Amino acid sequence: MSNSHTSVRIAGTGSYLPERIMTNADLEASVDTSDEWIRTRTGIRERRIAAEGEFTSHLATKAGLQALEQSGIAPAEVEMIIVATITPDTLTPATACYVQQQIGALNAVAFDVSAACSGFLYAMELARHSVGAGAFKNALIIGAEKLSAFVDWSDRNTCVLFGDGAGAAVLVPSTNGDGKILSSHLGTDGAQAELLNIPGGGSACPVTLENAPEKLATLAMQGREVFKHAVNAMKRASLEAIESAGLTSKDIKLLIPHQANLRIIDATVERLDISRDDVFINLDKYGNTSAAAVAIALDEANRQGRIAKGDKILLVAFGAGLTWASAVIEW
Ligand code: UT7
Repeated sequence: MSNSHTSVRIAGTGSYLPERIMTNADLEASVDTSDEWIRTRTGIRERRIAAEGEFTSHLATKAGLQALEQSGIAPAEVEMIIVATITPDTLTPATACYVQQQIGALNAVAFDVSAACSGFLYAMELARHSVGAGAFKNALIIGAEKLSAFVDWSDRNTCVLFGDGAGAAVLVPSTNGDGKILSSHLGTDGAQAELLNIPGGGSACPVTLENAPEKLATLAMQGREVFKHAVNAMKRASLEAIESAGLTSKDIKLLIPHQANLRIIDATVERLDISRDDVFINLDKYGNTSAAAVAIALDEANRQGRIAKGDKILLVAFGAGLTWASAVIEW
């Protein structure tokens, strides 16, 4: 994609994690797994699970309101809301519509993006160009997931990996002296769509009384294959964004990668020549929250003071589709 007309910056970030913590020990009680297996194969120690009656839109709204508060923009001033999610409240309307209603952003255009774990960065790129072109004055982008509603809790291959949560950012035009999004790179390989999907519940395979026991509306993944693609794609996407920003790996102060598996992160970092100390990791606390993961990590890094003005940070994600995405931001 070409560069936007005006530069765009992040004016505020937010995140929300449901209160309920599910530990690896809790999972040991329900499936044939162990804390040791989960920790050593993934790095995950616990994850958050949304309450009954707490939907993706509710998580998204809480994260979104925090980001608006930090950016000093009132809900009525918001012009665009993009929610990245694969676990929408309903197939239609978009989860962004419920968020609009809940935050009272009645003047906004609201829609969802479905690009799995890369969704937040896809939303960021769409918003960057929309705001940069002057078509919208600002955009609230949110990655939000209630993956606990789409996991087969009897399948140890998947149920130990995922969690619920939401993260958000507000994008506005950048003026002189402000930071800005320097570059971005997005990619898709639809030929690998079957490696990671939710096979049922869509028009291809509606859930019926007959097929209900097969639990087709839950996540199915060929983990080992996805793992290999993830490492390669995260590395390539990172290098593309770094290079188009006119930088090298040495310029990156903080890497915020998708939080799926610590071994994927380590393998990516090794190939990038970025110090492990400069990598933000929170998957031990939240597991894989798909589109929310990079957004939550960005907000935590921001609020923990891990990013200073002028720092160049790299965000990179990979997920179902297959999709991948990266962005280099000057803070
Ligand atoms: O977010 C989007 C992208 N998603 C990812 O990036 C995930 C990518 N994949 C992965 O992170 C890893 O492939 C997994 C964590 C999913 C699996 O790790 P792995 O090292 O690739 O394990 P595996 O699938 O090769 O399974 C190894 C063994 C198997 O047993 P056998 O066949 O060797 O006897 C599994 O049945 O581990 C077994 N296993 C488990 N054992 C205890 C699988 N899940 C579990 C479990 N507890 N929860």
